[in-house]
Amino acid sequence: MYTTLLTSLENGIFTITINRPNKLNALNKDVFTDLNTALDEIESNEEIKSVIITGAGDKAFVAGADISEFDTLNKEQAKALAKRGQDIFARIENASKPIVAAVNGFALGGGCELAMSCHFRVASEKAKFGQPEVNLGLIPGYGGTQRLVQLIGKGKALELLMTAHMIDANEAKELGLVNYVTTSETLLDHTRKILDIINTKAPLAVAGCIKAANAVFDESIDGYHLEIETFGNCFDTEDMKEGVAAFMEKRKAAFKGK
Ligand code: COA
Repeated sequence: MYTTLLTSLENGIFTITINRPNKLNALNKDVFTDLNTALDEIESNEEIKSVIITGAGDKAFVAGADISEFDTLNKEQAKALAKRGQDIFARIENASKPIVAAVNGFALGGGCELAMSCHFRVASEKAKFGQPEVNLGLIPGYGGTQRLVQLIGKGKALELLMTAHMIDANEAKELGLVNYVTTSETLLDHTRKILDIINTKAPLAVAGCIKAANAVFDESIDGYHLEIETFGNCFDTEDMKEGVAAFMEKRKAAFKGK
């Protein structure tokens, strides 16, 4: 089904491994097509509760957009490429199920942008983050200028964008770009353990948290109003009734996503 991704589904966690290790998992057209299809699968398959995105091999998460596809592009084609990348990364950001990046190596350019479009990031001690586009006479095109500022603040973001400096996992954690730093061996287990916890919660409430948090960065939405609406809508769900009943009866809730 996928030519550039390996996928597996275990205990409700769908793991997507970007699989072009000889090119450090660079994002070419085929990877974008496959990611878009994977997002359809994530939204439609009820067995998928949450998602991990990682990279194949021991060197890279994703070392950027595939630079070899750049030299034939004119201005309009470049804009279309950026729009497609942004649209797919926006689908990740706005997915109704948690999508977490497990960053196992270089996350550069489009790779850092992909990681930033995920709901949060866990990094191995080998991870390196950066937006090196200015080295190529470019700026990030897949949302990187916006999300880096959102995640680490304008001053540090502009320093990284303008110097093209790479930062290691510990610095990324200090800046709030990643939540945890693990060894390479424990990266996926650590990420799965967090998702195992989230997967026990009410799926519609989890989706509501994502939607409301994203509203902070969307000027067309009043986030406080959206929170009121979403809070109210929860009272119409079976899961809210089950959650409250389970608390009163001192038992574990069994959520259905309804
Ligand atoms: N696009 C296309 N191919 C890429 C790539 C990218 N973004 N990043 C790495 N590759 C390819 C290399 O061309 C090389 O292919 P080859 O073996 O056929 O020549 C292979 O992946 C291995 O990369 P290499 O550069 O030999 O590894 P390295 O360990 O010496 O360096 C990096 C690692 C990440 C520092 C280096 O690959 C790099 O700078 N990549 C580009 C990063 C970048 O600018 N990303 C933003 C793009 S907008």
